[in-house]
Amino acid sequence: MAENKQAVMEELVSLAKRRGFVFPSSEIYGGLGAIYDYGHYGTLLKNNIRDAWWKHMVQYRDDVVGLDSAIFMHPMTWKASGHLDSFDDPQIDCKKCKARMRADHVLELFGVSADKQPLEFINAELDKLRATGKLKCQNCGSVDLTPAKRFSLMVKSNLGSPTDALSEENVVYLRPETCGGIYLEYKNTIDSTRVKLPFGIAQIGKAFRNEIVARQFIFRTREFEQMEMQYFLHPSMMNEAYEMWRELRWNWYLEYGIGKDDIRWYEHEKLAHYASQAYDVEYDFKSLGGFKEVEGVHARGNWDLSRHSKFSGADLSYFDEKTSERFLPHVMETSVGLGRLFLMFLDKAYTQEDNNGEVRTVLKLDHRLAPIKVAIFPLMKNKPELVTKAKEIFDTLKIDFMCEFDDNGNVGKRYRRQDEIGTPFCVTVDFESLEDGCVTVRDRDTMTQERIKIADLQKYFWEKLR
Ligand code: GAP
Repeated sequence: MAENKQAVMEELVSLAKRRGFVFPSSEIYGGLGAIYDYGHYGTLLKNNIRDAWWKHMVQYRDDVVGLDSAIFMHPMTWKASGHLDSFDDPQIDCKKCKARMRADHVLELFGVSADKQPLEFINAELDKLRATGKLKCQNCGSVDLTPAKRFSLMVKSNLGSPTDALSEENVVYLRPETCGGIYLEYKNTIDSTRVKLPFGIAQIGKAFRNEIVARQFIFRTREFEQMEMQYFLHPSMMNEAYEMWRELRWNWYLEYGIGKDDIRWYEHEKLAHYASQAYDVEYDFKSLGGFKEVEGVHARGNWDLSRHSKFSGADLSYFDEKTSERFLPHVMETSVGLGRLFLMFLDKAYTQEDNNGEVRTVLKLDHRLAPIKVAIFPLMKNKPELVTKAKEIFDTLKIDFMCEFDDNGNVGKRYRRQDEIGTPFCVTVDFESLEDGCVTVRDRDTMTQERIKIADLQKYFWEKLR
């Protein structure tokens, strides 16, 4: 496998496209910056990651319920949440080649931490570098760069009739985080389900950010999916809940094949406008050259409910019948990008190993995440009796497992293709199968093969694919 991050990333991007996981959006028109489409296998992998999250966050719990709120929300939502006033990044431009850069990322290259620092601080640090001649455009090397200015990450759209669609009153924003909808439906959720504090609301959906620089494949995109859970609680419970959720989220990564040395916690010193405590789960990306954020676990206090209460006039307080106390719940959130997890699992699973002098590329994904669980092959395409038997097996297994029928090329070539998309098991129907009612089952990771009775296949895979 390639040693440096750029080469690893190139291999991942190439495999993702060649094998139908991820395509650059609108490619026939020259593409659209930092927007991607997911192909057949990508969609399946994404759905499996999503299901794995939902299972642990909602299905296995009796204190978390689900939600699917709209992408468009009343514009006042983002005024109240503070996003319209302070959801931005510091931008600098190259006057020569017009490249745009994030000033905090540029400063980071020189060991200056500028995360969420005010513009005055950032510009003073940039000036110091400018004076030494070290501040250069990352694209063309020019020293002619603008001072940093604030660049809003909010993506604007408009709703309304075509004639007045461009007027200011019609401006609505595409949500920059999915949790906005959770706060707006917090009261309806309490009124319509029988949840009592502490309880969580989980949702998965699209979010949009006008990222200044988005060059790391699907790590940072302008349209992405978030999986968020807001846990509403009495403020006295915050520390306990925070620790519990940090542990649960950490264990989730281990459960799906990420090693304990692959991830670490990073505690934020400078906090987003809504947070009072924030930890990130960081994963050691081979394709990005080190630890990068995949998930945030944040204590948000009562910032959101108090602001929405103030701006809407709605009473969002909670009455605890046991203690007869009325108060505004505090919130602890877990927030993770689905595309970022997708890249993490690809990065972890991508393996190149020696196979009798040949390089074997294989995605060693957890069985539950693998897009295709079982591939079924007739040994030869031009033998109708083998094809019919293989189709029969496919038709039976597909009811319970995502399967693929493949009769293209020789079996070795079919194995290589299934290895590259991470299929845990391949079943081959050969001439003997017609005599003894058995097929060859080949294991992706060990490449060992065993003969299994066709009649036992379903039970066999139920046990293996759990
Ligand atoms: N509600 C809190 C929130 O949105 P965040 O740290 O801004 O917090 C949480 O985002 C997670 O969402 C990140 O850890 C990352 O996984 C994902 N995310 C954020 N911006 C993203 C982007 N531009 N592209 C892909 N994923 C992104």
